[in-house]
Amino acid sequence: MKLLITGGAGFIGSALVRMAVAGGHEVVNLDLLTYAGNLDNVASVASHPRYRFVQGDIADETLVEALVADSKPDAILHLAAESHVDRSIHSPKPVIQTNLVGTFTLLEAARKLKVPRFVHVSTDEVYGSLEAPLEADETFPLQSSSPYSSSKAGSDLLALSYFKTFGMNVSVTRASNNYGPFQFPEKLIPLMISNALEDKPLPVYGDGQQVRDWLYVDDHCRGILAVLTKGRAGEIYNIGGNCSLPNIEVVHRILKITGKPESLITRVADRPGHDRRYALSSAKLERETGWAPQMNFDEGLQATIDWYRNNAAWIARVKSGAYREFYEKNYSNR
Ligand code: NAD
Ligand code: TYD
Repeated sequence: MKLLITGGAGFIGSALVRMAVAGGHEVVNLDLLTYAGNLDNVASVASHPRYRFVQGDIADETLVEALVADSKPDAILHLAAESHVDRSIHSPKPVIQTNLVGTFTLLEAARKLKVPRFVHVSTDEVYGSLEAPLEADETFPLQSSSPYSSSKAGSDLLALSYFKTFGMNVSVTRASNNYGPFQFPEKLIPLMISNALEDKPLPVYGDGQQVRDWLYVDDHCRGILAVLTKGRAGEIYNIGGNCSLPNIEVVHRILKITGKPESLITRVADRPGHDRRYALSSAKLERETGWAPQMNFDEGLQATIDWYRNNAAWIARVKSGAYREFYEKNYSNR
């Protein structure tokens, strides 16, 4: 298939680009290269004959329409986003611009130019914090807490409205917290790994008992591709890792594998509006497509830590510039 993947220089997008090219698809990667986008992430496919990179903003109507008209994709897989909750708290404007206006711009181009299929990639954070033992299925109410998750909830509804109103072939995926190689070290797992490897403090928010479900990035990408080919129009599909853990337990396991002392753990002020627990059921995706997560958390974490150990130059590059400025302005202890 001819795929237009947005955000393909980011963490999940780049894994999807690499998987799609390896799987025989033709891929155009549209990415603005914000602080989170990095062409090193797609270096392995850069000169592949079925791959093309275009730098640009998904909210740029002229660019997006010209690109869709020129590349005539069979499907758009939409991942480009401002993806971090903490940044959305300190600086919500780009989050709203990219996640809402950008998604709208892509949907409009897809509608006008009759793109046959659109998969909007979203998050379990739209369901908000759930009391144990509840698990969200796709009918669960939207109760987002942060500007990030609210912008994703809004863009999910917008995407689904293009199915209901215009009959477009749109599906929405909602995945749990991803981890794996090439993740920007602002999210919990890569931040804790890179700080541990550098003997820096590991900043745990509040009591560290917040629970997240962990999904290996390649399992997520296989889920997106399953929805692309087997998902139904107008439907939402949860993609979870079947691995719920409190943050502090994740941090302990990282320290154990890296062989670093517990004294690196530093308790810091809690995140405003912090969701206590995310949990979701992927039964619908499993039933309709046969997908199931393959990576076990301990093996995935070991592979991720090995990757960060072997890619110190990548970490140093992404932790300079805009990354440093943001953390120096908003946080100490990083
Ligand atoms: P990321 O921050 O690593 O990458 C985002 C990419 O989008 C970057 O390459 C960036 O340059 C690009 N981008 C940002 N604004 C853009 C714009 N205006 N135009 C074009 N490109 C732009 O994000 P990620 O973690 O890979 O997440 C990808 C998608 O998956 C997002 O939609 C996110 O909401 C969703 N998601 C992420 C997770 C997770 O745990 N990381 C979980 C579920 C869903
Ligand atoms: P994060 O990776 O930012 O993902 P999300 O907020 O989208 O779930 O955070 C995962 C969990 O880890 C969340 O409960 C916040 C917590 N956390 C910390 O305790 N310290 C940190 O430095 C970061 C980045 C996150």
